[in-house]
Amino acid sequence: MLLTLVFLTAPTFFTLAAAKQAYNQSVKYDSGLLGSSPTQSYVAATEYTPVQLNYEVPLTDETATKLSSGLLFFAPLAADPAQPGPLIIKQDGTVVWDGAVAFPSAPSFHVEPYMGEDHLIIWSGESSGVGYGWGSWHVLNTAYEEVATYTAIGLPDNTPADLHDSHIYSGDLATMTAYVTQEYDLRPYGGPKHGYILNCVVQEINITSNEVMFEWHSLDHVDPSESYTTPLITGWSASSPWDYFHLNAIDKDDSGNYLVSGRHIHTLFYLDASSGDIMWRLGGKNSNFTMGKDADFSWQHDGRWRSASTISLFDNAGTIGQQDRLSSRGMLLSIDTTAMTAELVHEYLPSKKAISRSQGNTQVLENGNVIVGWGAEPVFGEYDSEGNALWEMRFGVSNVQAYRTYRFDWTATPSTPPSLSVTGDGSNRTAYAWWNGATEVATWGLYGSSDSGESVNLANATRTDFETLINFEQLEDYASYTVSALDASGQVLGTSDAVAA
Ligand SMILES: *[C@@H]1O[C@H](CO)[C@@H](O)[C@H](O)[C@H]1NC(C)=O
Ligand SMILES: *[C@@H]1O[C@H](CO)[C@@H](O)[C@H](O)[C@H]1NC(C)=O
Ligand SMILES: *[C@@H]1O[C@H](CO)[C@@H](O)[C@H](O)[C@H]1NC(C)=O
Ligand SMILES: *[C@@H]1O[C@H](CO)[C@@H](O)[C@H](O)[C@H]1NC(C)=O
Ligand SMILES: *[C@@H]1O[C@H](CO)[C@@H](O)[C@H](O)[C@H]1NC(C)=O
Repeated sequence: MLLTLVFLTAPTFFTLAAAKQAYNQSVKYDSGLLGSSPTQSYVAATEYTPVQLNYEVPLTDETATKLSSGLLFFAPLAADPAQPGPLIIKQDGTVVWDGAVAFPSAPSFHVEPYMGEDHLIIWSGESSGVGYGWGSWHVLNTAYEEVATYTAIGLPDNTPADLHDSHIYSGDLATMTAYVTQEYDLRPYGGPKHGYILNCVVQEINITSNEVMFEWHSLDHVDPSESYTTPLITGWSASSPWDYFHLNAIDKDDSGNYLVSGRHIHTLFYLDASSGDIMWRLGGKNSNFTMGKDADFSWQHDGRWRSASTISLFDNAGTIGQQDRLSSRGMLLSIDTTAMTAELVHEYLPSKKAISRSQGNTQVLENGNVIVGWGAEPVFGEYDSEGNALWEMRFGVSNVQAYRTYRFDWTATPSTPPSLSVTGDGSNRTAYAWWNGATEVATWGLYGSSDSGESVNLANATRTDFETLINFEQLEDYASYTVSALDASGQVLGTSDAVAA
């Protein structure tokens, strides 16, 4: 994926304030000269090797004032990242939480209001290798302690929850997706008589009581003839069922009804909460809506209500070997369920127009800004409510992807203590301090303890990165060291275990 010689010989202008911050429009990064998936690495915290980022659309003094608050959440995956799995980063590209060690390769995680308070939900499990999986959702509190876990209940073959979507409602109710393989006569669709198909399931359960509150099976309501795919080489064995529907999003509204996205039907379905009946279809072969200019979409992800009459989604507008538009896009649609019309309100386009063949999401934030994650393309960015790009970052060059990217206000203090490593000898020593997941650390205070237990404050340092270097001059011998993490008001948030000198 090298760019032309003109680009390579042009002056490169990445200068780094601190090594791990995102590059600023680095041509070397984009051309692959830094590798297909550049990584950040640390001196002492060597178990973490998260992706390095590069601003494609840099922040300016003006756009910096328009940002929404919060940290960025995404999970690099695919073949190239050194360490696939969940990451929470700051706007400067430095890491706050690297979940790849605890949840290796987990593709999907976000913040949900479990029991009325912010929690992370993280899917982990086994991937089918063809775009769905079998696993469960882990609920972590703001100390990163697992407080609950859930999966689908009572489905054929004990099929567990799929990776695509889950949201928590009313404290302890969770929606989820599941892909059940079943036998099906596929002759009408070009497949075998004794064929296999994926029946996509929407399930909502009570996490506390393990009661099923709602269940909907795509095959009971949506005929495979509505699909834009055909079985082709799938459908001939139970290990390779035809994915005619491809359920990838479920959103429950205030009236309790569900908006459900079937990517391979090019349709958002609106389901009645009590009967499961389809009240209307938006998009696809049997749409109930008249679509306004540029309002139609295909191969979509992440349909969600943003008001009683607006829906956001990610329009892939293509898949492997197919392109329906110039570019994939984030979209905001206005829906009139009396006139049955859908109009495009805004679209959000990437700086380099391209089709993202899979994955992707569109998140509308409280201040009206929009985060778009470009799925199979390793890029995400933020837009103002009018659709103007505020910034865009790349997190890899070739085989690097992220299912979704979000921004959340997330305040967390791990229950595990901070980490400390001290190197050097004689009077010239260096300490390295880090605390995976701590969002509020502003400064570090380093302490040396004598044999008698008396503790001396040797040095302080501002937190600059995931790992902070603290250089200090040691004038006396100490038996051990500790480091304390302090918040912006000087409150101690936590102290490391003692490290022998
Ligand atoms: C990034 O580069 C652009 C010019 O290409 C410049 O306007 C901007 O200030 C730079 N940002 C940083 C954080 O260095
Ligand atoms: C879920 O079940 C628990 C235990 O029965 C119950 O206390 C709770 O109210 C239920 N949650 C909802 C939202 O109904
Ligand atoms: C949607 O279209 C179907 C037929 O394609 C029709 O049976 C149904 O009544 C329509 N629903 C609405 C709300 O228009
Ligand atoms: C102290 O050690 C660091 C490396 O750990 C080195 O860069 C620095 O030059 C040393 N300072 C002195 C005064 O020796
Ligand atoms: C560290 O910061 C505290 C609080 O501001 C201050 O009292 C202390 O003197 C500092 N220690 C060093 C070694 O500078």
